[in-house]
Amino acid sequence: MRESGRHLCVVGVQWGDEGKGKIVDVLAADFDVVVRYQGGANAGHTVKIGAKQYVFHLIPSGIVQDGKHCVIGNGVVIDPEALIAELDDLKRGGLHREESISISDRAHVVLPYHRVLDAVREKSSGSGRIGTTLRGIGPCYTDKASRCGIRMADLIDRERFARLLRANLEVKNRELAALYGEKPLEYEPILRDYSAFAERLRPRVRDISKLLIDEEARGARILFEGAQGSLLDVDLGTYPFVTSSNTSFLGLGAGTGFSPRKIGRVLGITKAYSTRVGEGPFVTELLEETGEYLRRTGGEYGATTGRPRRCGWLDLAAVRYAIAFGDVDALVITKLDVLDGLSEIRVSVGYQQGGKAVEAFPPHFQPPPEPVYRTLPGWKQPTSGCRKLSDLPMETVDYLQFIADGCGCPIAMVSVGQERDAMIRLDRPIAPRERSGK
Ligand code: IMP
Repeated sequence: MRESGRHLCVVGVQWGDEGKGKIVDVLAADFDVVVRYQGGANAGHTVKIGAKQYVFHLIPSGIVQDGKHCVIGNGVVIDPEALIAELDDLKRGGLHREESISISDRAHVVLPYHRVLDAVREKSSGSGRIGTTLRGIGPCYTDKASRCGIRMADLIDRERFARLLRANLEVKNRELAALYGEKPLEYEPILRDYSAFAERLRPRVRDISKLLIDEEARGARILFEGAQGSLLDVDLGTYPFVTSSNTSFLGLGAGTGFSPRKIGRVLGITKAYSTRVGEGPFVTELLEETGEYLRRTGGEYGATTGRPRRCGWLDLAAVRYAIAFGDVDALVITKLDVLDGLSEIRVSVGYQQGGKAVEAFPPHFQPPPEPVYRTLPGWKQPTSGCRKLSDLPMETVDYLQFIADGCGCPIAMVSVGQERDAMIRLDRPIAPRERSGK
């Protein structure tokens, strides 16, 4: 079944920001439909075409390619104001694509009280804070699980929305006052603003499960785009320092109403090094000059919040874990060119604690394990002009082979710059050799 499936899922196998936006944009050329299935406006997917740079938060990155049907699944939480701002931005950039977008009637809506609650919960958590993007994501998913959420189908039904908003706001205002000493939010302005958002988005709202099943039946090729990264998965990531959705391939079925059994291939995206934003364990983090080099050279600042990203060496234990539970078939290595200036490159092949190897990826990181490093020679040459494997320096190919071996997973593509064409597509993937990464 998997081999014959024509649909593809692209996910991050680190903590997000792996460069999925560019990869989805490039791959979308071969697909008819591009789908987001989880997360919300916390995501920031950057696509650079010539002098133009687009940053998408809610709209699938496939939108830049002409003629693609872009779909936002029920697993996404939608901030309608952010979505409309993104649609307007596209228009300003000359891309009149609003009619190519479909939004699930079952997707939950992010409301102003979610954003306020996100901020006050973070503020009151002190050292236990997550470092969220403050986009209201956690509180919105909380309401979904608590069964008091408001969905797109509710938003576009004026009476229903007015009733649900009134009931929800009353409870949220009590929580804001009693727990956080915050002022109540007013009902009327929210009703007015969200009714206007509903008018704009109504024509785009539909049953996405049916849409995808129908697309499949007519022979369409569907590309699914995971947001964030697998290690931010609420169930399997570095909990509690995670986002509130299922970010790996495993989130696809529940987030769309389309069976994951129909997906042919899962591509896992990893940078040639590691980054994460916000709090949480990061075993290979570099707090010195090399970390600063990676941040500066890789432009490692959040696409959504502008926060400087924490940077470090590639962590193969983490990537292997994400590949295993996320059923990843092949890897795409991004930002390889960022390492061009380094004379030595380290890779963590596993963790140890008190001198003993840590076998399984831990459910928490207290006490923190230490990385087990291998040091490889750098190549000290520019790679951003390389388009074939044979263009790369020998040390670079060795580095890629080391990753494939250490992950036990083939590498299908390598990205060496921001532009669409800064890409090495491997007709013959770099296959892992017999276990030699450790
Ligand atoms: P939230 O998703 O805003 O609740 O944030 C929870 C955690 O996920 C924080 O550490 C965020 O920095 C992180 N996060 C959320 N979205 C992204 C993303 O798109 N890239 C990287 N980190 C993210």
